[in-house]
Amino acid sequence: MNVNKTKKIVVLATGGTIAGLATDAAKPQNYKACQVNVVDLLADLAPAGVELLTEQVAQIDSKDMSFVLWQNLLARVAHWVAQDEVQGVVITHGTDTLEEMAYFLQTVLQPTKPVAITCAMLPANAPDSDGPVNLKDALAWVQAPDSKGLVVVCAGQVHAGQAVQKTHSHQRNPFTSQAKVTHPAELHVPSVAQVLACTHWPRVELVLNHAGADGRLVRAVMAHDAPDGWVVAGTGNGTLHHDLEAALLVAQKQGAHVLRASRCAWGGVQSREADVLPHAGALTAVQARVALWLHLLSQQKSRS
Ligand code: SIN
Repeated sequence: MNVNKTKKIVVLATGGTIAGLATDAAKPQNYKACQVNVVDLLADLAPAGVELLTEQVAQIDSKDMSFVLWQNLLARVAHWVAQDEVQGVVITHGTDTLEEMAYFLQTVLQPTKPVAITCAMLPANAPDSDGPVNLKDALAWVQAPDSKGLVVVCAGQVHAGQAVQKTHSHQRNPFTSQAKVTHPAELHVPSVAQVLACTHWPRVELVLNHAGADGRLVRAVMAHDAPDGWVVAGTGNGTLHHDLEAALLVAQKQGAHVLRASRCAWGGVQSREADVLPHAGALTAVQARVALWLHLLSQQKSRS
């Protein structure tokens, strides 16, 4: 029997700017994401003494990310981290919805081996593209003896997967992360098997409180195509215009789950005695949307 004992790192590619190409390399802001395949991205980057296995799980701009693709990615990461010879997994991903995917994957899988997500803000053919360095750093992080959990490696920084958020639209380091973000205990997490078996995705809509807000949007959607849940990005500590709050209370009575977050980048929502709608604690609004979506998925009866 030929047993190959070389440690393996798996690179799962999904597209994004890291795989993007500019038509004119001198004007890297004019580019198309998801053009370069994973084998070409890794040219010259293989670390010594490690075998790289690659899979092109998707080739998309992450603004177009879908739950089916999350499901595929979860299946591939779960498969590879379960293989003895695999030391860890690197995922390449667009920056735009990376924080949602990172929250999803860490919450559902809680991988026991190192998983590093990496990305780029400049396309692959820009003269000073950040992709190769980020990819190299992610490969190095996965190999380091004390690395564990799921992280985002970008611009020389390592962020916990559940805490990261994209807070800048174009600088080379677009991410910041809060010190500690915990999944709200009252929101259940489905098993990996439950997520992989799901064929009917819950629908959670996101609405924003703002000056001049009212409840018309919520009332209109509830009347015509009611979702399973709403996350509202409130002002400050998750506060809501009284008309928006009234509309969401009606939605809740009609069976939709409603969760408050804050539209502030940091700090989340803290409980107050006068609270009438539940809140998502430290989670950002987009994380809260993933958390509620997972909770609703966990409550589904199995469909045969
Ligand atoms: C994307 O999110 O796929 C495009 C933008 C990026 O990667 O920065």
